[in-house]
Amino acid sequence: MNILVTGGAGYIGSHFVKAAIGAGHRPVVLDNLSTGHRWAVLAEDFYDADLADGAKLKDILSKERIEAVVHFAANAYVGESIENPTKYFNNNYVNTLKLLDAMLECGVRTLIFSSTCAVYGIPGSIPITEDEPKKPINPYGLTKHFIEETLKWYESAYGLNCIALRYFNAAGADPGLDTGEMHDPETHLIPLVLEAAAGRREFIEIFGADYDTPDGTCVRDYIHVSDLAVAHLLALDYLMTAGKSGTFNLGGNRGHSVREVIDVARSVTSSDIPVRQGQRRPGDPPVLVSDSTHARQTLGWEPGYEDISVIVGHAWQWMKKAGEMGL
Ligand SMILES: NC(=O)c1ccc[n+]([C@@H]2O[C@H](COP(=O)([O-])OP(=O)(O)OC[C@H]3O[C@@H](n4cnc5c(N)ncnc54)[C@H](O)[C@@H]3O)[C@@H](O)[C@H]2O)c1
Repeated sequence: MNILVTGGAGYIGSHFVKAAIGAGHRPVVLDNLSTGHRWAVLAEDFYDADLADGAKLKDILSKERIEAVVHFAANAYVGESIENPTKYFNNNYVNTLKLLDAMLECGVRTLIFSSTCAVYGIPGSIPITEDEPKKPINPYGLTKHFIEETLKWYESAYGLNCIALRYFNAAGADPGLDTGEMHDPETHLIPLVLEAAAGRREFIEIFGADYDTPDGTCVRDYIHVSDLAVAHLLALDYLMTAGKSGTFNLGGNRGHSVREVIDVARSVTSSDIPVRQGQRRPGDPPVLVSDSTHARQTLGWEPGYEDISVIVGHAWQWMKKAGEMGL
């Protein structure tokens, strides 16, 4: 299939591109390189373009004979979304509407959308199923929730079929080390811990150690980015064959505390990682763990890299390779 991959120069998008090529598809990447990287574009076809440019979107969709869109492009910093909500409402929501309208004008009615566990806010029950009430507590999560809701209306009114995938914490790197995570600023725990292991960061700060969790630190569900990529291919197959829209959690169904991740990183890197105890951050739920049974049963998704030390190990290998390449 000819697949338009928005945000294909970003962390998760570049892993999807690699998986899509491996599965025999032709990904066409559209990315404005605002947080992504030219080196991360693994597709032959690349447009340095912005989602805001509706005319360009239509041009690409028709010229490249696009059959499906996988939509990763977004801003994804929770803290920034609280400080600058307009950036998030415009780029994540308004620009997604431009994409949907361009798709409809060009007769493309198949979409895989990157959603997030941030749509749940502070969940009432753990593990979190797709039925958990959606109560986002920041503009980032709200934009994703708006899009999910909008998509239901686009399906009933215009026949646009969509699968929304709610990722938990994407982590790790391509086992072949063709791509990996590189955000600036970095806000994700595993690369931050590894930066401390590499001596590029003086210490890792733990935000709160007095939560009601086994060791007092927050618990999160880490899912290997290459497993996420495969889930998108399965979702695409499902949408093309069953023709049914849907929403799926994508997580590992188990949680790891901040302290546990630091200990795993110490053992993977054989480094002493200095830690500093900080205050809780407002709005951090104590525990976020998925129930991803729906994706496993309906899409046949079976994550291949569930062990947290494998996830951290791939991220570490990637960080070392990126350093050698001067990235
Ligand atoms: N990383 C995670 O753990 C996680 C968790 C849940 C959901 N998500 C979602 O997954 C998607 C990808 O996340 P990521 O971690 O790969 O982020 P990323 O920042 O690495 O990738 C996003 C890409 O989109 C591009 N982009 C942004 N706005 C654009 C625009 N207007 N036009 C064209 N390109 C644009 C950026 O340049 C970047 O390459 C996002 O939608 C994010 O909300 C990520």
